[in-house]
Amino acid sequence: MLRVVVCVSGGGTNLQAIIDGIEQGAISDTEIVRVVCNNPGARALERAKAAGIGSACVSPKDFGDRERFEEALIRTVQEASPDLIVLAGFMVKVPAELIRKYENRIINIHPSLIPAFCGKGYYGLRVHEAALARGVKITGATVHFVDEGMDTGPIIEQKAVKVYENDTPETLQRRVMEEAEWVLLPRCINLIAAGRVKVENGRVTVVE
Ligand code: GRF
Repeated sequence: MLRVVVCVSGGGTNLQAIIDGIEQGAISDTEIVRVVCNNPGARALERAKAAGIGSACVSPKDFGDRERFEEALIRTVQEASPDLIVLAGFMVKVPAELIRKYENRIINIHPSLIPAFCGKGYYGLRVHEAALARGVKITGATVHFVDEGMDTGPIIEQKAVKVYENDTPETLQRRVMEEAEWVLLPRCINLIAAGRVKVENGRVTVVE
């Protein structure tokens, strides 16, 4: 059984896609052992509760400084003894210590085809605003391992999504989620649970 901790901040639709994937058998040999959230008002917490998954909220507001917040976050994740940490719309910079401890065991979903529209400042709707401003005809989503850079870790899988002329950032965001994110993230977790994802020299191969 792959023990997964899912880190969330907001709506939790990607968390829901993982929960559904496990329930419906698209993801095998996987258990979400804890949901970790930095935002007490997040809808994602309700989704965890409805699925009977234990959650923990670690909000920066409850700590005097960044260092203490990071310590608490690391502790909360580690307590659950995860094999894999999934960042599913987690709006917190992951502490370097955690990244080092879980090298190639933290994955993130980003709503563009990396290396386009990623890195500093590219999050949420901004990614889709930038894609529309540039006039790209295709965008998509990327699942990648997390290293100490921003959206720079080894890419596991990507899925393309068409951009339409009348798209707004909101309609594009929705389509990228429906057609790419909610498909890709469960698929990558399933591949990892099956031991099929190998990282070598910063590049991923999916083995048979
Ligand atoms: C998604 O677009 C994800 O790619 C990004 O944040 C959003 C999270 O949405 N990193 P949700 O909380 O899973 O609904």
